[in-house]
Amino acid sequence: MNMQSTPASALAKELKAHTGRFTDKKFDWDAFPSNRGFPELERAQMRYIGSGGSPKEGDTTTLKPDNFTVSLIYKEPGKYAACHSHEIEESFLIINGALVVGWEKDGEVVEVNLGPKDMILNAREIGHGFRVDGVEPVLMSISVDVGKPLPPVYHYHPKEHAPELARSFGAEPGKTLPFDPEGDHPLQQLMSQYVVRHADLPTIWEDAGFTRKVYVGEGGIDYDTCRKEMWGVPAGVAVKPYTRAVEDAFLVLEGSLTVGWEQDGEQVEVELGPRDLVKTPAGRAHWFRNNSAAPAAVWHVIGTAADDGVSYEKA
Ligand SMILES: [Fe+2]
Repeated sequence: MNMQSTPASALAKELKAHTGRFTDKKFDWDAFPSNRGFPELERAQMRYIGSGGSPKEGDTTTLKPDNFTVSLIYKEPGKYAACHSHEIEESFLIINGALVVGWEKDGEVVEVNLGPKDMILNAREIGHGFRVDGVEPVLMSISVDVGKPLPPVYHYHPKEHAPELARSFGAEPGKTLPFDPEGDHPLQQLMSQYVVRHADLPTIWEDAGFTRKVYVGEGGIDYDTCRKEMWGVPAGVAVKPYTRAVEDAFLVLEGSLTVGWEQDGEQVEVELGPRDLVKTPAGRAHWFRNNSAAPAAVWHVIGTAADDGVSYEKA
């Protein structure tokens, strides 16, 4: 039961308006009009920040994007996404299940199998598709590193190509190569620069008492738009307020995290559970603490690739 004896302040209302609750949202099974009529392409999207690759706009439960979008995608075994490309980069962070991602060039495809907490950053203009070959559905978080991307350009859509060719992202039989960072095919070499294995990333222990794994940024994939990090916040850990020159977002994957805002001496906070998100606008002092007994795993997206000079201090 939530009791509130005093009316919410403007700051409290603003924090609430920047919070995306999993339970307030719905998966949209018609987010991608180009999939209509193709049951093998079915997927559902839940939009948190912006509309991502979907043309659906005006969704009032979705936060306005600045430098990046965040959504969840759900896909069932046997389904795939046709090979396409974008003018910007787009990351897939696996939350549950195993996802095969293929990159295509000149009829050759390299396929990588990603597991929970692995990520791929799909490079600009690279043909990419994905497929669920595993036994369980895939849930992943997709971020596009621009507020409003152009519509995708399809390379091998089943509308125009044989179903087998579309399902293999454009590779004829024998033209699919496995992901291999040691491989000498240029596409294998290129893809290896954009795949992040959670277990291979160094774990950075901050003096403030929590961990960071840098997926995109210094030490991870070197890219020029947004930083992306996986944080581990042990029970009881809290940091002092800090401010960035760009927006950032916390998406809780496991456990719970309390995020607070501060303005003119007033403090407000919200507790996030799994699949809840807070977007903090540029210039707003904010902090976090884990007020629960269990550690939290948190996906953190920061709207710039530049070092914004933020350091984290134990509260
Ligand atoms: Fe894409």
